[in-house]
Amino acid sequence: MIEKSVPHLLQLKPDAKKFSVVAAYDATLAKTIADAGVDAILVGDSLGMIVQGKASTVPVTIDQMAYHTEAVARGNARSNSPALVIADMPFMSYQNIQTALENAGQLMRAGANMVKLEGGAWLAETVQQLLQNGVPVCGHLGLTPQSVNKLGGYKVQGKSDAQRTQLLHDAVALADAGADFIVLECIPADLARDVTEAIGIATIGIGAGHETDAQVLVAHDLLGLSERPARFVKNFLTPENIYSDNPIKDAFSSFDKSVKAGTYPAAEHQYN
Ligand code: KIV
Repeated sequence: MIEKSVPHLLQLKPDAKKFSVVAAYDATLAKTIADAGVDAILVGDSLGMIVQGKASTVPVTIDQMAYHTEAVARGNARSNSPALVIADMPFMSYQNIQTALENAGQLMRAGANMVKLEGGAWLAETVQQLLQNGVPVCGHLGLTPQSVNKLGGYKVQGKSDAQRTQLLHDAVALADAGADFIVLECIPADLARDVTEAIGIATIGIGAGHETDAQVLVAHDLLGLSERPARFVKNFLTPENIYSDNPIKDAFSSFDKSVKAGTYPAAEHQYN
């Protein structure tokens, strides 16, 4: 059993301790990230854009997610400090409960410790059923990239009063249904703080300010590989660690320490 389990990470919230998450898709980076002390690795469906070069996450399939989850799980298992592995359920792989159970089963058999779904209150019953079958669930609210065609682009969400109320309602519904974590992507920092205070489970922010319980960044972004980095992205591969024995591992370690110290994200990385 891994030390960085879901219950272990949930216990950090009452003590106001934060945890770190990095999205990655292969065995070598997974081992490096775990060795660096990062708490969880998200096998994100962002691999559709980062690895496959597609325009969105929509074309990613469950078999592709399982393939990358297996690779990450293998690399992670070689670390002396393995991280929790969270795998994304891709577009239309959880449109009804039976489909969600079958596809979550495939990801858990591939080595995931938890699955992540994009969406709000409408997923409550799916979350309950997954939980009953031993599958921990991470929700995902705010900018949900699988809905890019509905949202009309990758835009900050939760700006209007109606959107704020809806997002809070969705977070409470997911928590009540039994989700353990919720990713909050690209929302105003004060809304992320309100959600974090309103629920007993852990919030994981990306472009959501510093008052969430955890932070996630895509490995390629924190290594400075993005062509057009979003406002919330910080390059942790800095001149200070570039000449060390393992600059990539140091960059992940620097991200982990900055999250835990509360120095990342800074005001310049958040939306208001
Ligand atoms: O797919 C992904 O990498 C994600 C993160 C950006 C949260 O969902």
